[in-house]
Amino acid sequence: MNTSLFDLTGRTAVVTGASRGLGQYFARALASAGANLVITSRNKSRLEGFEQELVPYGCEVFPVELDVRDPLSITAMAEKAIDRFGRLDILVNNAGCNIRKPSEEVTWEDWNTVLDTNLRGPFFVAQAVAKSMIREGYGRIINIGSVTSVFGYAGIAPYCASRGGIRQMTMSLADDWGRHGITVNCLAPGWFRTRQTEALYENPRWVEYIEDRIPLHRPGEPRDLDGALVFLASESSRYMTGQCVLIDGGISTGATKATV
Ligand SMILES: NC(=O)c1ccc[n+]([C@@H]2O[C@H](COP(=O)([O-])OP(=O)(O)OC[C@H]3O[C@@H](n4cnc5c(N)ncnc54)[C@H](OP(=O)(O)O)[C@@H]3O)[C@@H](O)[C@H]2O)c1
Repeated sequence: MNTSLFDLTGRTAVVTGASRGLGQYFARALASAGANLVITSRNKSRLEGFEQELVPYGCEVFPVELDVRDPLSITAMAEKAIDRFGRLDILVNNAGCNIRKPSEEVTWEDWNTVLDTNLRGPFFVAQAVAKSMIREGYGRIINIGSVTSVFGYAGIAPYCASRGGIRQMTMSLADDWGRHGITVNCLAPGWFRTRQTEALYENPRWVEYIEDRIPLHRPGEPRDLDGALVFLASESSRYMTGQCVLIDGGISTGATKATV
């Protein structure tokens, strides 16, 4: 295989929500393929340790504060990143949150927190970053979805609505911006142990249930998403847009529960 198809040398990637969890997996994968990185958190001090960890990859790393619920913060992040690198080639729209509650207990504020963070925010981050991509006639936007982009689960209705929405939004943006050389795809992970899912993993009954239910018989591990992410970020995926790629050990082949 021609490895240059996956080479990201000279490209600059923005990874939102890189202070922990999947955002850090994605940033490491892009750095190891050669990309320079803009990494974000609502609190820049949370990025310090990770910025140091990325030094051995030899890429340039630019930590920037970003709250995806604040339009001014989104504009400022994109402007700072473009000032620093001149252009932005790749966006991993990863920042997100979840609130686990039975639907009858979900409040107006819960709904707004999840939808503003997981759907409105990524739309306006994509819009801000796409300004540079449209100018350059090139871009790779990867919206992070979930198995809940294609299935609904009890106990996380606002989250499922946001993740279904991001899949639909991906198709619209792909149609809008394809003529500018920008591809837009949704990468939908299965179950990975991070702060967002920690409470579930503390329940041995749930762990047993989920391991049994996943056809590959284990939850996701940090490196499991690297190949798909670099593929979607690179030249290899140039004729693919508007798609949703599930990397979930096969759990989307059948129904499961998000809570026990
Ligand atoms: N873990 C899984 O199994 C799984 C599965 C499928 C999809 N996902 C999706 O993958 C993404 C990452 O999940 P994760 O499990 O890594 O979660 P996590 O460990 O809770 O990390 C969430 C990240 O999002 C950032 N963030 C939260 N609210 C933000 C806001 N208002 N503005 C900007 N950044 C914000 C956080 O940064 P700060 O708090 O530092 O700002 C943090 O870096 C999410 O979109 C999630 O829905 C996760």
